[in-house]
Amino acid sequence: MTFDRKIKIAPSILSADFANFGQEIQCVEAEGADWIHVDVMDGHFVPNLTFGPPLCAAIRPHIKTVMDVHLMIAPVDPYIDAFAEAGADILTAHLEAGPHVHRTLQAIRGAGCKAGLALNPGTGVEDLDYLLDMVDLICVMTVNPGFGGQKFIHSQIEKVRKLRAMIGDRPIHIEIDGGITPETAPLMAEAGADVLVAGSAVFKGGSVQNPAPYGENIRAIRASVGDA
Ligand code: DX5
Ligand code: ZN
Repeated sequence: MTFDRKIKIAPSILSADFANFGQEIQCVEAEGADWIHVDVMDGHFVPNLTFGPPLCAAIRPHIKTVMDVHLMIAPVDPYIDAFAEAGADILTAHLEAGPHVHRTLQAIRGAGCKAGLALNPGTGVEDLDYLLDMVDLICVMTVNPGFGGQKFIHSQIEKVRKLRAMIGDRPIHIEIDGGITPETAPLMAEAGADVLVAGSAVFKGGSVQNPAPYGENIRAIRASVGDA
């Protein structure tokens, strides 16, 4: 993975057909997805359950782009090696998942993955000073994590703007996740985000039998940020 700040669209397979992940991934990649976002939930850190390392390993061969794994789990550390072995390119842990996030980030890089750090909407950027040189991506949650299809939280625009200034020239992606549509994406791109996760806004109206809407949806988000 080489670093650049070009806008990337990362469809979340949380909104895909769970009985058909392989084909869903092939369809969204063929329709223009840049990364594939995989939402791992544990029913403890967030009030929903999705899937774990075996599912990630099973879908890995279908991903030609980047496998971006968002861990909404606590604890994180006991599972890092399993997700790395499953083929994650990026492993993102939540700042709120435990007291030793510095150790978690070290372990993620130690396992050979890019290290991501996610922030819940209620978390400020004040605690990031001593972590900035340990991360490759910061994920600003623009909804409370746990479910797709929620409403974008506007207060996070200012957070992205602050983060963008803190990051300066460091090669750190700013990812935004939750409620991203052609209406909300430009607010965040303007503030400094470069990776746009979108679940419902990408998968709506399409299916593996009829994937064209996926392409239309991805192009609508791209066009909204002036990246036609
Ligand atoms: C929320 C997840 C998101 C979610 C986004 O906990 O981290 O990735 O799937 O879904 P939409 O785009 O529908 O808000
Ligand atoms: Zn996510």
